[in-house]
Amino acid sequence: MNTHVQPQDRSHTWAKVDRYLERKLLMPDATLEDALSANEVAGLPNYDVSPLQGKLLHLLIRMSHAKRVLEIGTLGGYSAIWIAKALPQGGKLTTLELDPRHAEVARINLRHAAIPDEQVEIRVGDARMQLAQLEEEETEAFDFIFIDADKPSNPVYLEAALRLSKPGTVILADNVVRGGEIIEESSTDARVQGIREFFERLEGEQRIESTALQTVGIKGYDGFMMGIVS
Ligand code: SAH
Ligand code: DHB
Ligand code: MG
Repeated sequence: MNTHVQPQDRSHTWAKVDRYLERKLLMPDATLEDALSANEVAGLPNYDVSPLQGKLLHLLIRMSHAKRVLEIGTLGGYSAIWIAKALPQGGKLTTLELDPRHAEVARINLRHAAIPDEQVEIRVGDARMQLAQLEEEETEAFDFIFIDADKPSNPVYLEAALRLSKPGTVILADNVVRGGEIIEESSTDARVQGIREFFERLEGEQRIESTALQTVGIKGYDGFMMGIVS
């Protein structure tokens, strides 16, 4: 839990503001809402990006004219739907998921959202292995990479993402603030240490220029890192 927002917890306000902004800025989309319901029915954890964050991913992909997108961590496909809907004609999302049950729910949600099968490839298995496989296949570089799986592996995912990139590739990583816990040097939480090591690798990294933003909203207090590959 977050110990850094004491004594005045504003999370209730953050959630209400998110709902207000959603009403003002997001077109109602039953397929996205249905995906969240289906995830809940299937008992998936609610680690999906928030609707406003999903829209941010969607807009960034359109703004960068990304055609080939890689996602690490599919869950029930909520972010994948936002991403797929941003792709141009002939664009493709490759998304990696360890848990076959999550992947199955994602498949159903993507189909329900009328995303053409050939536009999204869900690869089931440990992302570390899947990324090595993509490298071995000498896959064409990705234009946009979204890192959102197990946080202890973030340093490994960053290295793999850089190898699967070309100049101009955008790399975005979710959950890099974790209620402020990332500043706790001696945290015993492997997720916090994974993110700390991720930032240590970014420190002085010449291959990417990055920033990070802290966020609040329905998902509490967290943040994302974003960079462009040199
Ligand atoms: N991007 C999704 C949320 C992903 S939650 C969305 O916003 O909708 C993180 C996902 O990563 C979970 O489904 C989890 O099963 C998966 N995951 C955890 N460890 C993994 C690993 N080693 N390889 C691939 N996926 C993994
Ligand atoms: C976790 C993973 C996520 O992708 C997220 O958005 C929130 C939490 C987690 O593994 O704890
Ligand atoms: Mg996340």
